[in-house]
Amino acid sequence: MKDSIELLNMWLEDVPIEKVLGYFLKTYGGKIGLASSFGAEDQVLSDLILRTDPNAKIFTLDTGRLPEETYTVMEQTNRKYGIKIDVYFPKDSDVEALCYAQGINGFKESIENRQECCRIRKIAPLKRALEPLDVWITGLRRSQSPTRETMRLVEWDEANGLMKLNPLIEWSEEKIWDYIKSYEIPYNALHAQGYPSIGCAPCTRAIGEGEDLRAGRWWWENPEHKECGLHLRGGK
Ligand code: ADX
Ligand code: SF4
Repeated sequence: MKDSIELLNMWLEDVPIEKVLGYFLKTYGGKIGLASSFGAEDQVLSDLILRTDPNAKIFTLDTGRLPEETYTVMEQTNRKYGIKIDVYFPKDSDVEALCYAQGINGFKESIENRQECCRIRKIAPLKRALEPLDVWITGLRRSQSPTRETMRLVEWDEANGLMKLNPLIEWSEEKIWDYIKSYEIPYNALHAQGYPSIGCAPCTRAIGEGEDLRAGRWWWENPEHKECGLHLRGGK
């Protein structure tokens, strides 16, 4: 599968997104899933995917620290499409050990603490969710941040040993919002309050005029650290 990545990227270069999704959903049916954080991009993808396959797998990672607005849009999405999105939680004993080791909000004290919190609350549940899959779909876009500029439509996820499909990789923020408005898709209320990128409540803030789209994520850290580990490249 790893060997076909380059070929797939060449072959799918100018293919419309609906066809790309149609091809992957048909080829990997039952072994493909969308990871949704209920951000604007993921809401667009859920709509596109469910139009093609109303039973497609959509899953989310509930870290236990999500904003209330995220649960609201999760519920609205379930209702709109008549589905129940799969929710993966961190292991209770790991979260208890984490809080014992670094305190309830210890992630603000050092990058190591923060990465350990993300590892337990996000990365470990992600691994569990990806276990039965051959392909995972994400809402990553190239223009979201410098760390994402070189991402491709199809990638090999070395850390998790499966293919990763980023159908919106070339989309602009404007195109995302045009789609949401045209199809009246539910979206996270925080987007209208200056939050273009939404993660855990204590690690996300609104951004100011002219700030980078991901400036509100782990804002106390340098830009090169602003990934939680879900999307590390080359297995690092
Ligand atoms: S993160 O790595 O900084 O948290 P970001 O919020 O930009 O990622 O989201 C990028 C993509 O990662 C989303 O489109 C989605 O596919 C996936 N993702 C991020 N957070 C979650 C989550 N909590 N549950 C499921 N998927 C997620
Ligand atoms: Fe922990 Fe913050 Fe990472 Fe969420 S984003 S898992 S609260 S460090």
